[in-house]
Amino acid sequence: MKKILIVSYSQTGQLNEVLTSLSSPFKCDEIEINHKIIKPKKPYPFPWNFFEFMDCFPESVYLDPCEIEEIEDSNDYDLVIIFYQVWFLSPSLPITAFLKSKFAKEKLRNKPVITVIACRNMWVMAQEKMKSLLKNIDAKLIDNIVLVDQGSSITTFITTPRWMLTGKRNAFWKIFPKAGVSKEDIKNTSRFGFAIKEALENNLEKEKVSICSGLKAVSVDEKLIKSEQIGTKSFMIWGKLIRKVGKIGDKKRKPFIALYTVFLILMIITVVPINMIVQTIIRKVNKEKILKQKSFYEMPSGSDDFRMKDFSKYE
Ligand SMILES: Cc1cc2nc3c(=O)[nH]c(=O)nc-3n(C[C@H](O)[C@H](O)[C@H](O)COP(=O)(O)O)c2cc1C
Repeated sequence: MKKILIVSYSQTGQLNEVLTSLSSPFKCDEIEINHKIIKPKKPYPFPWNFFEFMDCFPESVYLDPCEIEEIEDSNDYDLVIIFYQVWFLSPSLPITAFLKSKFAKEKLRNKPVITVIACRNMWVMAQEKMKSLLKNIDAKLIDNIVLVDQGSSITTFITTPRWMLTGKRNAFWKIFPKAGVSKEDIKNTSRFGFAIKEALENNLEKEKVSICSGLKAVSVDEKLIKSEQIGTKSFMIWGKLIRKVGKIGDKKRKPFIALYTVFLILMIITVVPINMIVQTIIRKVNKEKILKQKSFYEMPSGSDDFRMKDFSKYE
């Protein structure tokens, strides 16, 4: 009997759908699942009001955990799967809190861990932070599976924030698709469940190497790497300043959050388009370097599809 610890947090329920699809193949006598839902002591709002939304960026980027309800459990696990979303190019605060908890330090030590992300489309820097959080507790990341919101970067720049700030998820004006990950992509995550089940049957998790490779687990959009790096720098500089002014929720932070929002919008209107043109040229010149970067950020699962046909029978 293999024991899997599943850890998740989801505001809209989207990650729960991903979790249900991925773990559907685990319903068998040989696998026992234990699902822990992370519960912040002070729940985050959904839909968000704009100030609360922006106010949690400094703590998110500085991996300053929120308080969560304690988790108790005496099991020893063969595999851990963490389902998380990205907040401001970082793991969401409840997930950061879990990874810094006593429970995670004890239970994840020397364990193979698979991370599953569902976010808009900017997850690369968050996963780098995830890697360091896992390293700090001696957990071994063996796979990363990523699902991103349907639609182009331009449309999701509208649909995702609209969903977060109003709760409205529907498609509109013919050009904007329904917010979030597509139904099809969620359904197809069951292929990873079958691959994980097969690996567990063959004790492959003990080797602590990827068991989901060849299944198109991730695909880094190289066009977004530089934006994520610049965005992270900007969040760190402004976040440091705002954290000096007060704690999360402190009214004194409001003017600074407002100022940063104006700065961010101005950057998005002016610097981002210019940078996109410059980056397109740089990417053409530095093709090799960019490809190396892409495959680095796609580790450990990679974007290959050589096993897709083995699992297509389950679709
Ligand atoms: C405060 C906040 C910040 C977010 N920042 C990002 C981000 O930096 N990159 C991204 O791709 N998605 C971002 N998102 C979208 C989330 O990753 C995720 O898609 C959405 O919150 C739905 O997740 P859930 O319902 O499972 O909690 C953000 C969402 C919130 C609420």
